[in-house]
Amino acid sequence: MDKKELDLKIQRFDPSLERRPHFERYAVPSKAGMTVLDALIYAKDQVDHGIALRFSCRMASCGSCGMKINGRPRLACETQVADLRASTITVQPMDNFPIVRDLVVDLEPFFSKHAGLAPHLVRKGDPQEQESPSGEYLMTPKELDSFVQFTYCIKCGLCSSSCPTGSTDTLFPGPQALAQSYRFIQDVRDEGLDERLESVDAPHGVWRCHFAGTCSAVCPKGVDPALGIQLLKRHVMAARSPLRRRRSRGGDGAGVFPNPNKELLKRP
Ligand code: FES
Repeated sequence: MDKKELDLKIQRFDPSLERRPHFERYAVPSKAGMTVLDALIYAKDQVDHGIALRFSCRMASCGSCGMKINGRPRLACETQVADLRASTITVQPMDNFPIVRDLVVDLEPFFSKHAGLAPHLVRKGDPQEQESPSGEYLMTPKELDSFVQFTYCIKCGLCSSSCPTGSTDTLFPGPQALAQSYRFIQDVRDEGLDERLESVDAPHGVWRCHFAGTCSAVCPKGVDPALGIQLLKRHVMAARSPLRRRRSRGGDGAGVFPNPNKELLKRP
């Protein structure tokens, strides 16, 4: 193999035709600034159209190119070949997900778990406001800071693919869904605390997390799901303890306020 060529080793597997995965190697001309996704696209376009992979934005935003690269879950579009400092780049589908074909995994169970934990604001006192908004729910910068990092999740699945609990318990919601649950419980505008705690304080829920911390180590957006899960446990303990008062919802900072920009918007 030429010195300016990469040795790209891709796991291939079609579960409808094969019993087990195998690897195939591709020689890819390397160039400065090349990402692993660039190398995969070259292999697919120029050598083997049959390679199945998923990608879209190519800028670490859509979350579709999650895969295992040299043994670690990463986004292919943000992984520079040069940073890997390896003569061979081995690419495999994410762990903990059923394989559809080659590098494409079935994300349906992942999104079902996300949807199952109600990833949206729950408001009980003002349903009309949800249908016809008349203003904004305000919060302080401090209140926003307490959960804002969890809103950066792009749902790529890397955290869940690295989770040791997820690999042995398919009913465990996983770090992504649990961190999002914390994000909404912590949001002063949300009023769904009771329902949320019922979902997470369950036999396969938050207590299954043993704080391995791999989810946070692999997150490409700097989110710390392991921290979110531990803080979620604290919410559960606080809510279940007879000695502690439950945090009120819809109180200070969560009422509806007229949009301060409305008047500005009306100006010619
Ligand atoms: Fe969108 Fe990589 S292609 S995150």
